[in-house]
Amino acid sequence: MAKAKVYVTRRVPKPGMDLLAEHFDIDVYEDEEAIPHDVLVNAMKAKPYDALYCLLTDDIDKEVLEAAGPQLRIVATMSVGYEHIDLQECAKRDILVANTPGVSTDSVAELTVALLLMTARRLSEGVESVKQGEWGDWRPKWLCGTELTGATLGIYGLGRIGFNVGRRLKPFGFSQIYYTDVHEVSYAKDIDAEFIDFDGLIQKCDFICVCCNLTPQTRHMFNADVFKKMKNNAILINTGRGGVIQHDDLVEALKNGDIAAAGLDVTEPEPLPLDHPLVLLKNCVILPHMGSNTWDSRNAMSEIAARNCIAAISNQTPEGNVCT
Ligand code: DGY
Repeated sequence: MAKAKVYVTRRVPKPGMDLLAEHFDIDVYEDEEAIPHDVLVNAMKAKPYDALYCLLTDDIDKEVLEAAGPQLRIVATMSVGYEHIDLQECAKRDILVANTPGVSTDSVAELTVALLLMTARRLSEGVESVKQGEWGDWRPKWLCGTELTGATLGIYGLGRIGFNVGRRLKPFGFSQIYYTDVHEVSYAKDIDAEFIDFDGLIQKCDFICVCCNLTPQTRHMFNADVFKKMKNNAILINTGRGGVIQHDDLVEALKNGDIAAAGLDVTEPEPLPLDHPLVLLKNCVILPHMGSNTWDSRNAMSEIAARNCIAAISNQTPEGNVCT
């Protein structure tokens, strides 16, 4: 029997590639850069693929799905986020959508802690000062940052990642951990986190970690009005999605001291242009979306996305099922 056909939009880590090659007839877009949209549309038209294995850089919209044709069973993304996939259009066509939940939680939570410490203690400025020859005599007021001990921590989105950020940060001795989510969650008690509404979160917290998905409800939640209500000493960390923060408003808030600093692993757009005002601000630490950049996480993600394709084509429910 002929093998099912899968289109893969980038060469992913070996565990995923091996699994795909073992089960399917695969075509891979062989480039380091993301596949251009028109190239993806044409690739979908070229052959009747049963599965599309994609990444968060690929816009899987109506045009791609129409080009793919009615035999397409699944869009499997090698990511936790799936805002790049048009879920409604997939549902209309009975196409499964699956992501890779769980396996990048530790990597993203570790990076969130690192970014919070980097931002609070001005570590990137310190590293840069050594390289630029600015390390002079010991100075009493030079590159002073903020302690975590005794501060209030807020977590916006206490899902898997938010909870694991809280679990790792708790030993630093925050006076209180608060969280905001659509509803209270029972596991919050494991980190002594108190449920609070969004207004309370932004007004009470010295550190806020954004750990939520991007949805119509969370888009631009952090905007000028919110920055004005936040503490002037507040530090905002985002490892969720760039779109949760209104970036022009963030520039103003950082410039005029509405908040003290920001640490961003995700931005809008990505990549952020080199001349973007945020790149030029000393009180903004920006990383190139590297939350899940560990081999442990990326290998596992590549494999789960492949297993999701196998499940869908065997008429089973994929483990990362998002919708049917
Ligand atoms: C995801 O999996 O959605 C992450 O943002 C990729 O690192």
